[in-house]
Amino acid sequence: MRPYRRLGEVPRKRHMRFGADGRLYYEELFGREGFSGPSSLIYHRNMPEGAQDVSEGPADMLTPEHEQVHENAHLKGYELMPSGDVVTGRQWLLVNDDIRIGLVAPAQQQEVLYVDGSADEVLFVHSGAGVLRTQFGRLPFSRHDYVVIPRGTVYRIDLEQPTDTRILCLEVTGFVDAPDRYRARNGQLTEIAPYSERDFRAPEELESGQGGAEVWLKRANHVSRYMLDHHPWDVVGWDGTIYPVAFNIHDFEPRAGRFHVPPPIHQTFQAHNLVICSFVPRKLDWDPDAVMLPYHHSNLDSDEVLYYVDGNYAARRGIRQGSFTHHVGGLPHGPQPGALEASLDRPRETDELAVMVDTFRPLHRTSIARQIFDKEYPFSWHTGGVRGTTSIA
Ligand SMILES: [Fe+2]
Repeated sequence: MRPYRRLGEVPRKRHMRFGADGRLYYEELFGREGFSGPSSLIYHRNMPEGAQDVSEGPADMLTPEHEQVHENAHLKGYELMPSGDVVTGRQWLLVNDDIRIGLVAPAQQQEVLYVDGSADEVLFVHSGAGVLRTQFGRLPFSRHDYVVIPRGTVYRIDLEQPTDTRILCLEVTGFVDAPDRYRARNGQLTEIAPYSERDFRAPEELESGQGGAEVWLKRANHVSRYMLDHHPWDVVGWDGTIYPVAFNIHDFEPRAGRFHVPPPIHQTFQAHNLVICSFVPRKLDWDPDAVMLPYHHSNLDSDEVLYYVDGNYAARRGIRQGSFTHHVGGLPHGPQPGALEASLDRPRETDELAVMVDTFRPLHRTSIARQIFDKEYPFSWHTGGVRGTTSIA
């Protein structure tokens, strides 16, 4: 999904003497898997390590709860109120060691530079627009974009209007990339992929930060405050395959079938122990005898989280834009009572827009999730009789 790219000036060969006006530039390997994985080479005007002070930073707020009861859930994400900035205001809802899933509704602009040292970030822009500014350059984004930020990227997000912005935030421990099955042997996206390299936007203009800078580094759930003696956006050029990208969900080309096709057809990204899928408007299940709804399913190896962005999600009762559902591994879930009958006369198409994350290890809800938990949802498949009593008769 990230082809080789070059921006600005780089020397003719790697590790070659390179500079201007009698000053040498500093080459930095920005690499995954030590020296053996995908990487970029970045050329700085200043020595990238230069710092005058390091101290403890602000607390990384997270309060996972370890549930005694595992039930399917609807989390009313639309009730979360604006707070903090696009980094400090993240309200985490569902977490495990592979991913944090949450939402940010910023109240103000980000002021301090931020770098996530432990996770790739996938930000899905539900509403709002802005510019991601990094050492790789400027990357404008807008509504319904995924913005994928590799770990180690020093960034500030300038929003057009913070209080008009809502962003689904995914902090992913593994390497976020296109699924293996979409890629040819040489890494290129194939003809069967639902998108191509042309659909991914990359920085096209370098930044030129001046002077010292404060940077908050998050590593292993702790934030450190670095006072650098130079600005990290002092880059004259870079090349490689690790850099931030933006991808609009409407550039995902949906696939449909005569009968219902299951969610792997919607997969957009992969990472260790999880997948990220995009449900976009599309034609549906056009055989006259096809059931135009998802079938009831038990995904025995995963928890499933859906974030509802837009349109009408016919299979789910009580769900609206900004809702999350969390369907727990080991339990079945599917359309609620009445959905099948209601689907019989509908046009064979959907305008639903949703992002799904399936995690292969259990998710824990946080105390914030508990506050926006819809108490009726676990029983929305209930079809009669007294609710909330247990009978062994
Ligand atoms: Fe499902």
